[in-house]
Amino acid sequence: MLPLRPVAGRYNPYDPSYIRDPYPWLDRLRATAPVHYSRVTGSYLVSSYALATEVLADRRYTGNRKLDSSLRNRMFLRFGKFSPAEEKAQDSTLTNVSDDMHQSMRNAISYDFGKRRVTALLPRIEFWVDRLLDEAAARGTIDLVNDFSAKLPVLVVAELLGFPPQDARRLQEWSDSYLVLVDPLIKGAGVARMSGAFHQFDPYIADTLSRKRAEPGDDLITRLLERHREGEFDAAQLRTLIMMLMVAGHEVITNLLGNAVATLLRFPEERRRLQKEPELMPTAIEEFIRFESPIQAAWRIAKEDLEIEGVTVPARRAVTVLIGAANNDPAQFTDPRRLDVGRADNRHLGFALGSHYCAGPWLARVEGAAALSRFLERFPDFRGDATRLRWKPAAGLRGLYELPLTL
Ligand code: HEM
Repeated sequence: MLPLRPVAGRYNPYDPSYIRDPYPWLDRLRATAPVHYSRVTGSYLVSSYALATEVLADRRYTGNRKLDSSLRNRMFLRFGKFSPAEEKAQDSTLTNVSDDMHQSMRNAISYDFGKRRVTALLPRIEFWVDRLLDEAAARGTIDLVNDFSAKLPVLVVAELLGFPPQDARRLQEWSDSYLVLVDPLIKGAGVARMSGAFHQFDPYIADTLSRKRAEPGDDLITRLLERHREGEFDAAQLRTLIMMLMVAGHEVITNLLGNAVATLLRFPEERRRLQKEPELMPTAIEEFIRFESPIQAAWRIAKEDLEIEGVTVPARRAVTVLIGAANNDPAQFTDPRRLDVGRADNRHLGFALGSHYCAGPWLARVEGAAALSRFLERFPDFRGDATRLRWKPAAGLRGLYELPLTL
């Protein structure tokens, strides 16, 4: 029943040429057969926009990776040797809780991640943007990734949640250790590192909760504590939700900003257009997310035997929805490998779709726009080499190691 149309050689996210430019690979995959079984990932790959939309919207799939019975996944979980506290935390993540609990957690954070609240945070976001850019202005050079886009998101999410800014460095380090959850194939981000971080991060959050109990603030942690007091979720679920929000809002925004500036270097005309017409920034942000999607794949597990275009996905097996492929499907997007900062009707899947649709798209949009607008305003003549981009090897994420620029 397994490999119907094996793709050995057609999908290898660790091939250096894939890492440099995955899109020709993804085009071939989509054109050959939009559903494939992949031995590299131990899952079924979906690469067309239409099928990606169908799978993401289908509630007969779950995001709970614990249910995936493939050998690769069983090995991944066994490597972990998780403690009971970690097991409990894993069972409490947004992808693993019951549908009712998932809804309740999403409701609990919807106000703080909503458009109104995030827009009200704009002056604080601009404050952090300018502080980081001031340091670069003084130097005349910047590594956009490490000096700016990796530092900003953690400061912003920490503020929204209610963590003190002086803890940003360790929050960033702990969050980085969790990348293995976003991308089980990512190199250098092992399960052991995640476990190590958990045993520091979890007590740190418990301390913060005690502090907020004594001194409530106008922040998300304080509001979540109220719901906890009313019995909506238990203490472990509360800590896991906070941890997850810290992790989720970090690497993706780092990659959005780095990928966007690298893309502008590659398309000088679109760069000039955006600089001349800054009001295009909202459509430009959506286009950056489509064109070089920070999250390239989402995993879904079939709860029962399911069929995608005549291919049977057995119960408890994973489907990898290749968001990066769907977002470059010529059947949905005209001339997809051309950047168009004013692209109309851009219904990309960069934030996924369905019940696990991203919880932070407004924060990504508002923070992304503020960061890029200020950067372009302050350093209109920035220069860099788009032919020497070094992408991190990963199947589920797309981002650069560094992006050195002269200002
Ligand atoms: C450019 C920035 C961002 C991109 C491209 C992005 C993309 C995504 C995608 C594709 C998913 C679905 C993953 C899956 O189903 O496997 C997701 C889920 C999620 N995102 Fe984002 N995201 C971004 C920023 C943020 C921010 C700033 C936050 C908040 C701190 C956030 C919080 C979440 C959460 C909590 C989920 C899980 C939702 C659930 O399971 O119900 N994201 N995001």
